Amino acid sequence: MHKVELKEVGLDIGLAFSKHFYKTDYLHYGYWPDGLTVEPANVFEAQVNYANYLLKNIPEGVSSILDVGCGSGKFAEIMLDAGYSVDCVSPSPNLTKHVRNRLGDRAEIFETRYEDVRTEKRYDMILCSESFQYLLVEEAIEQTKKFLNKQGYLLICDFFKRDVPGKSPISGGHRIERFLEYMDEQPFTKLTDLDITKEAAPSLDIMRDLIQEVIAPTWNIVAYYMRSNYPRFTRMFSFAFRKKIAQAHRKYLSGSTSGEQFAHFKTYRLFLYQQKGWRPLSV
Ligand SMILES: C[S@@+](CC[C@H](N)C(=O)[O-])C[C@H]1O[C@@H](n2cnc3c(N)ncnc32)[C@H](O)[C@@H]1O
Repeated sequence: MHKVELKEVGLDIGLAFSKHFYKTDYLHYGYWPDGLTVEPANVFEAQVNYANYLLKNIPEGVSSILDVGCGSGKFAEIMLDAGYSVDCVSPSPNLTKHVRNRLGDRAEIFETRYEDVRTEKRYDMILCSESFQYLLVEEAIEQTKKFLNKQGYLLICDFFKRDVPGKSPISGGHRIERFLEYMDEQPFTKLTDLDITKEAAPSLDIMRDLIQEVIAPTWNIVAYYMRSNYPRFTRMFSFAFRKKIAQAHRKYLSGSTSGEQFAHFKTYRLFLYQQKGWRPLSV
C-alpha cells in the first residue's frame, strides 16, 4: 500500500466538508466579483463563477482536453456537457471513486500522478485547475509537451508564491518568478496572463470562518474532554505531536489564513500557453 500524503487527506476532507457545508462538489476556490457577499451561502455561486471563467478561457478550436488533477470530476463533467472530449488524471483513490461515479465511461481516468501518466493519446489542451501547485514543474512540462497535439494549449489556473518576506500561513504554490523564468525557456508562447488574486482571496475568509467557528471549538472541546478523562494519554499525545499541534495552531487556529494574508503572499493566475513547435508522435 502506498504512503498516504497529508495533502491527499486534506483534499478528501475538503470535499466532504464542501459537500456538507456548502453543497458543492467543486474543490477549487471561488471567484468573488464585487457585489457578491462573502458568506457561506454564496460559496457555490462563487465556485460556479470560477468554473464559468475557466470555460470562457478555453480557446476556440479545442476539442480534446486532459483534465490534470480533476478533483471530484465536477468540472470534467461540465466540459463533457459542453461538448468537449475529456480524459482525467486523478492520483487520489478516494477522489477517483467520486470521479468514476460521476463520469462513468464518459472519460478515461488515469489513476496516477500526472508525472507518471503513460499514454499514446494526444490532446488539444491540458488543463491544470488548481492542481498545478501539486506537480513537479519540470516533469509536468515535459509530460505536457508529449501529450499535446500540434500547437496545443496548456491552461493553468492556480496560485503561486509571491516573492515577499515573511512566512505565509497558507501553504502551497510554486514560486511565481521561477515558474515564469522556466516557462520563458520552454517552447511555449504565453497568450494569457490574468491575475485573479482579488477575486479568489475571499475563499480564504470563508475557510478562516469555518475553522474559527466550527473546527477550533470542536478541537477545544475534544481536547478538554481528553484532558479531563485521559490526562496521561493526552499529555503523551500532546508531547509526541507538539510540533504538528503548534503548526496547526499557527496556521489554522490563529485565524491568520485570511484573504488579506493570501493576497499578500500569493498570486492567483490564469495562464494560457500555446506550444510553439511540435514533434511527430513517434519521437
Ligand atoms: C485542489 S484539487 C483541484 C481539483 C479540480 N481540478 C478543481 O479545480 O476542482 C487538486 C487536485 O490535484 C490532484 N493532484 C495532486 N497531485 C497530483 C499529481 N502529482 N498529478 C496529478 N494530479 C494531482 C489531486 O488529486 C486533486 O484532484
